[in-house]
Amino acid sequence: MPLHKRDAMNGKRILLIIGGGIAAYKACELVRLIRKQGAEVTCVLTDGGAHFVTAMTLAALSENPVHTTLWDLKNEVEMGHIQLSRQADLIVVCPATADLMARMAAGIADDLATTLLLATDKPVMAVPAMNVRMWQHAATMRNVATLRSSGVTVLDPDDGMMACGEYGPGRLPEPDAVLAAIASHLDSQRAKGPLTGKHILITAGPTHEPIDPVRYIANRSSGKQGFAIAAAAAQAGAKVTLVAGPVNLPTPPGVTRIDVETARQMSAAVDAALPADIAIMVAAVADWRSAGEANQKIKKDGSGHVPPLELVENPDILASLCKSARRPPLVIGFAAETNDVLAHAKAKLARKGADWIVANDVATHKMGGEINALHIVSATGIESLGEMSKDAAAVALVQRIADVLA
Ligand code: CTP
Repeated sequence: MPLHKRDAMNGKRILLIIGGGIAAYKACELVRLIRKQGAEVTCVLTDGGAHFVTAMTLAALSENPVHTTLWDLKNEVEMGHIQLSRQADLIVVCPATADLMARMAAGIADDLATTLLLATDKPVMAVPAMNVRMWQHAATMRNVATLRSSGVTVLDPDDGMMACGEYGPGRLPEPDAVLAAIASHLDSQRAKGPLTGKHILITAGPTHEPIDPVRYIANRSSGKQGFAIAAAAAQAGAKVTLVAGPVNLPTPPGVTRIDVETARQMSAAVDAALPADIAIMVAAVADWRSAGEANQKIKKDGSGHVPPLELVENPDILASLCKSARRPPLVIGFAAETNDVLAHAKAKLARKGADWIVANDVATHKMGGEINALHIVSATGIESLGEMSKDAAAVALVQRIADVLA
């Protein structure tokens, strides 16, 4: 169903925190777009932000007072900062600079913006914008992961030419795209969908199993089907935790994402995310990892001798979850097969102890593609959904889940 922005946004209150980056000028346009959808905007301008746009501009566009400091006696008497942080339906940090996200991730509260972000009990969305190297820096990646795992929706920046002349990810998404993400977030909060009140835990993507610091064992999973299921589940009102292997996909709105690399990390993240009402294990977990990960790059020794690669089996996350005392009431596994698809899926259902195995034929629909034909195999029989886009397949699967819960 197409999202009608105005339906989702009319009458909502957005607290917009403007960080100190050149992309701050786009926040002015965002204020205008949000207001056009019938929502109210209150702006908080950081000291850095004030170097790029003025409080006057934001006050005129929002038709609301602009807050700039913790130490404003008049503001504090009329509207304490705690109250300011609680009266919004959504807090949007745009642009979210590397520094602002670092302080958010660390729980620092040394100005009005970070104090509001620490004091709030409302959902927070951050829209990053920074130089490509700053975005890709391990410290920023860590901070983004921390924020995401604590429930902040961090949008992915756009790719492209930056104000500083470099090229790559780090550009603020266009105001229209930010508006769409805000509408979608508010819509998912509003959605009293069939999965409202349910916590759904999803794994997606491949895992990477290191051989040495530069080589790893991987597979062709793109993560698209798992991410589409996470999006559809959030859209249906569920609280969604998505444990994602290394993929190149944006986080669906309203979804809490935990990034992992190896099967063992995925297993630990699944454990930490419990309890859940429903688990959907879509990830193509590597069955084996190297028995002895070298801590230095393995070199050719010139003799033509090939180094041995001994493998050990990874933990079976799905099978362990099914056996665990904290087993969710509905556990769904996936089976990507190249032959005898349904027979393998039936065998897997019994072997793993899942309630359903969703099978797909990766000989016909190659891993990483856009199309899937899913077969839901359960104790009661097999339902084949037919060939469709991964997004449509996700919506259909979520509908089946809602049907059995009803
Ligand atoms: N799975 C898992 N942990 C593993 C391997 C698989 O959680 N170590 C899950 C997958 O996420 C999927 C299901 O188990 O939901 C089936 O995965 P698949 O790779 O098809 O099954 P395998 O157990 O690896 O069986 P086989 O290699 O024999 O096909």
